[in-house]
Amino acid sequence: MSSPHSGQWREHFAGVDLPVPVLGGATLTGINFDNAASTPPLSRVRDMVTAFSDLYSSVHRGTGYKSRLSTEAYEQARELVSKFLGVDEKDQVVIFVKGTTDALNRIAAEEARLNGRQVLVTEMEHHADLLPWRHRGDHVMVGLSDEGHIDLEAIEHALKSGDGKISLVAVCGASNVTGFVSPIHEVAELAHRYGARISVDAAQLAPHHRIDVRPADDPGHLDFLSFSGHKMYAPYGAGVLIAPRDFFAGAPEVMGGGAISIVTWDDTVWADLPDREEAGSPNVIGAVALGVAIETLLELGFSEMLDYEVGLGGRMIAGLSGIPGVSVLGGLEPSTGGTRLALASFVVEGLHHGLVAAALSHEWAIAVRHGCFCANPYVFRLLHMNRDDVAEVEGEVTAGRRKALPGAVRASLAPYNTEAEVDRFLEAVRQVARGRIKATYEQAADGTYSPAGGWPRITSPLHAVVKH
Ligand SMILES: Cc1ncc(COP(=O)(O)O)c(C=O)c1O
Repeated sequence: MSSPHSGQWREHFAGVDLPVPVLGGATLTGINFDNAASTPPLSRVRDMVTAFSDLYSSVHRGTGYKSRLSTEAYEQARELVSKFLGVDEKDQVVIFVKGTTDALNRIAAEEARLNGRQVLVTEMEHHADLLPWRHRGDHVMVGLSDEGHIDLEAIEHALKSGDGKISLVAVCGASNVTGFVSPIHEVAELAHRYGARISVDAAQLAPHHRIDVRPADDPGHLDFLSFSGHKMYAPYGAGVLIAPRDFFAGAPEVMGGGAISIVTWDDTVWADLPDREEAGSPNVIGAVALGVAIETLLELGFSEMLDYEVGLGGRMIAGLSGIPGVSVLGGLEPSTGGTRLALASFVVEGLHHGLVAAALSHEWAIAVRHGCFCANPYVFRLLHMNRDDVAEVEGEVTAGRRKALPGAVRASLAPYNTEAEVDRFLEAVRQVARGRIKATYEQAADGTYSPAGGWPRITSPLHAVVKH
């Protein structure tokens, strides 16, 4: 295949050329640099969802034609996920869940039953990979290198001093704040060496990097893996949890129909996996959409897309580094070799992150994220805040003054984004950083900014169907 060119994959993604109203009543083609939050669907996935809606019915126990067809599609989606990740179904099970948060909470709920055990988390984790461990059980948090990377020595030290108490190491495959890609197989080797398992939060990694969970007898194998369809071009409410089959013991965390073999007046016999972990009616359309997304990404060229994204990310980070007053969290290390996603969080000196994000949207039709990206400890650290600084902010926020919350602006790219979009974004940031903000913005009590007089009116398609 010839080397990828800018825009090569754009036609395969839905809704990426939307005219967006901006300041002064004009419209511009929107730029979506908020892919780390959620991605648009692949067009094929969107079309399949429409087509499959005509065929959809309940799965597993229905004898009707549509039920049998839907069951087949649902199980095919499981197979696609399994093959994509190299899962050996003898040792591991593919469970369809709502998303990464749901998956991690399920692991934490099971893990919490094992009294006296600890989960090791890194300071880099998204709240979804921190709070379940913190509030359902016991955890230890290890620090990072000075630049905010995973610190293998710190992990090994914690495992050693855990004296066998640490049963699980929970780590993200890639950070949603810096885009740093974690050495997951090396962390896995360490975890296994000290008798622990590894859980990888692959919400950010799975859409961009090909992951192989590896066989159970490989020291670097991944025991648990979680990711979300909506970050992987299939925003229809399904996600995936890969887990060791022997992990689930006793009653499942979520109980209900479909999870049992038989229920008598006194007894419950749980079904085999995966059914016992998929109580209730599953999200068949979401799972099938995710399966189709995986197949489509493979067909379009997963690794070529990564190469392309790496180039695009490098262009963005190099560009940001040349803008006076802009600093990129985690430094300017480019994404060579796929060690960083095409993602950058940055601060503009003297300007609130919410103001920068509002101006990029309202004046340039550029969608970004701002704030702490559900990874408060990591962002506080990257902003060089000490414990006193954080305590002060905590006091303000607890008193309802959310304006005090610091943060950054995040731009996250996908294969449908183009060099021209990156260049327009860089020009926008350059102008904003120079103070060339045309509109007046007001800050609300929650810290967010909006144009004085309000945002241009949005007409949701639901207006056509909802009677007011
Ligand atoms: C690294 C990481 N983990 C977990 C999550 C949670 O994913 P979801 O909201 O799909 O459950 C996110 C979402 O932003 C994320 O970026």
